[in-house]
Amino acid sequence: MMINIGKKTQNIIKRDKKVMFTTTREHYPFVAERASGDYAYDIEGNRFIDFSSFISVYNFGGNGTAAVRKAVKDQVDKLMHAAFLDYYSELPVRFAENLLTMFPKGFGRVFLSNSGTEANEDAIKLAKLFTKKSYIVGFINAFHGRSLGALGITATKLVHREHYGPFPNVVHAIYPNYYRDQFNTSSPEEHALACIDHLEKVIMAKEYSPREIAAIFVEPIQGEGGYIVPPKIFMKELRRIATENNIVLVSDEVQAGYMRTGKFLAMDNFGVTADIYTMAKAIGGGLPLGATIASRSLGDTPAGSHAGTFGGNLASVAAANATLNHLKKNKRLIESMVKRKNRIMMKRLNELKENYEIVGDVRGLGMMLAIEIVKNKKSKDHGIKERDAIIEKCFYEGLLLLPAGTSAIRIIPPITINENVLEKGLNLLDDAIKKTSAK
Ligand SMILES: Cc1ncc(COP(=O)(O)O)c(C=O)c1O
Repeated sequence: MMINIGKKTQNIIKRDKKVMFTTTREHYPFVAERASGDYAYDIEGNRFIDFSSFISVYNFGGNGTAAVRKAVKDQVDKLMHAAFLDYYSELPVRFAENLLTMFPKGFGRVFLSNSGTEANEDAIKLAKLFTKKSYIVGFINAFHGRSLGALGITATKLVHREHYGPFPNVVHAIYPNYYRDQFNTSSPEEHALACIDHLEKVIMAKEYSPREIAAIFVEPIQGEGGYIVPPKIFMKELRRIATENNIVLVSDEVQAGYMRTGKFLAMDNFGVTADIYTMAKAIGGGLPLGATIASRSLGDTPAGSHAGTFGGNLASVAAANATLNHLKKNKRLIESMVKRKNRIMMKRLNELKENYEIVGDVRGLGMMLAIEIVKNKKSKDHGIKERDAIIEKCFYEGLLLLPAGTSAIRIIPPITINENVLEKGLNLLDDAIKKTSAK
């Protein structure tokens, strides 16, 4: 074992458990101290290869770029909070103008908040306001956040929802996952069309009238749900249904957006334009920021209808603007990096699938990839214990990984990761799967 966990870590975890409510930390005792480039460092001085990008936030390397940090420091010395939702300020406007250059020409207006959850909460409100309708269609296995509106559309795990309901005005449709095809179809496309049929011919024909549905919320790739990629036809059909019925199509880009799949908007992989996009995580370059970008054709909000104290916080927006400038300046390079590293990773991950009975599925787009761990390939029963064992083994060998879905492991290193470091991380993963398989 390379990693030694000592008293400092134990002490912090013990104090944490006394004063903090529990969150999702359970896989390994990582107490973060600093991050730089491809690596994360803990309080003991251990160095880890980061295959998590700190939950898809540091897309361009741990702790952001030097330019991002400088922009934040400079702004903090001038003004941190400008009460942007009551007073005017130039920096958030500049950022919104900059952000909109990444969307189709003339596309939209921006609402700034502090997280992915809030960005989705804002989208729910905008969709209701603009359509004057009330129901929201979400998908089984979706994750949109944990406030009551966003949680209502979330359906990844019972533990997220238990005791927090009822969640009014939400209906969950089936998201395609051909690996676990409940319709017994013969291709991913046929499977996706069966999901669409269920939405149109069951949900929208018997339970909820499209005349009452305000929005369809969809993740272009289901993130927390296990990195599930639907076929293009699925999104195209959702677009058709939304257009035909005056329903707002919302693309939750919180995890999949911001170049993670090789494109700024993950929805672009499907050749579909949504009506509202929500973004967070990487957009703030390490500081909290949520953005809801709505098509101009939907309209505007009446003054006072929606606001929040910290949306457009200047330190966050300074970080976001510097991160976006970095992205725009290096867009071609980032695109080619994602393509190249996708090939490297997919080759290795498919080898893992060939070599090990417990690697059931390999999936994802760009540098948003996952493997699903199963008991064996035939039964496809979820290998939850095995998945957790692999993640823990990797931690003690110096590789940070995060779970996703019931038994998947996400592989989301910074897009900028050095290829030798990437290979080293993949070797550690291979070794941990080998050792877990041998048991
Ligand atoms: C797709 C998606 N939407 C929304 C959220 C919620 O974002 P936040 O944790 O910033 O509130 C997440 C978080 O993982 C996410 O993956």
